[in-house]
Amino acid sequence: MALLAAILLPGACDGPHSVLDPAGDQAAHLHGLLNLMLWVCGIMYALVLGFLAWALWRTIRRRDAAPPGPDESQRPLRIGLGAWAGLVVAGLILLSTASFLVDRSLAAAREHEALSIRITAHQWWWRVAYRDPASGEWIETANELYLPAGRTARLELVAEDVIHSFWVPNLSGKLDVIPGRTNLLDITPRRVGWYRGNCAEFCGLQHTLMALDVRVAPPEEFSAWLAAQAASASQPSDPVLARGQDLFVNGTCAACHVVRGTPADGRSGPDLTHVGTRRSIAGGALPMNRGNLQGWFLNPEALKPGTLMPAVVLPSQEADALARYLEWLK
Ligand code: CUA
Repeated sequence: MALLAAILLPGACDGPHSVLDPAGDQAAHLHGLLNLMLWVCGIMYALVLGFLAWALWRTIRRRDAAPPGPDESQRPLRIGLGAWAGLVVAGLILLSTASFLVDRSLAAAREHEALSIRITAHQWWWRVAYRDPASGEWIETANELYLPAGRTARLELVAEDVIHSFWVPNLSGKLDVIPGRTNLLDITPRRVGWYRGNCAEFCGLQHTLMALDVRVAPPEEFSAWLAAQAASASQPSDPVLARGQDLFVNGTCAACHVVRGTPADGRSGPDLTHVGTRRSIAGGALPMNRGNLQGWFLNPEALKPGTLMPAVVLPSQEADALARYLEWLK
């Protein structure tokens, strides 16, 4: 499964990506329902094949015998058909009831102080916003979702442009993300680890490169991460990094990106205040490192045709300084 995912889903996100390995309550409910459906349908299918084989065998055995007379009893046939119809109805009732119960458990009223996280889908990346418990301000990150293990998170899903679909297979089912409305998805993760999320609704050319790194963290790690994300970027003292910051703030980057603590406050692209802490860049297209950062901003079209990110034209020394600055933004 992991090998298949690796072949079919290029990208930097390397967490597990399978509905067959649930790591949260909602995914576990759905996995249970899937198992029940497979068993019920599997048993029915085996019975159908068994009866077919039996009928063929009987026909071959009787081929040379005299045809049955009109008075031969039809009773065994009637009983068999009645039993079969009863079995099918019982199977359907079982599946309908289980589906209803799982649906109810997914939509049940959750604990009151669920953690609210706003997720905005863009072509082709995810804006993720948390409320800072210290200041009450919203703080943003992109293409990376941190969740505390054992606590329900309520995701408020909105779309900026077209219809997308939010899906982290190990944690929950899919939910469409639709412009003009807010859809709520509750996730209660249980197992600490990294997982892979992705867009599950065709949303344009780069739909496959719209991935999300999902970290289910112990509560202390989550709190420390959130506090670090809430902080503004510090001022670099190294002259190369300072040059990189100058290029960022006074060049084209600042028109679309925020680095909190600097004058860069563009809103249309991802918040890059702590971009160096992320695992991947460009919606999961590449692992985070300086070379990939540089390749991405110098020629985004080559990596992700159709992206709204424009190329940043810089001589190599300046491109290097800018990439060093971005990587340094931890
Ligand atoms: Cu967004 Cu597919």
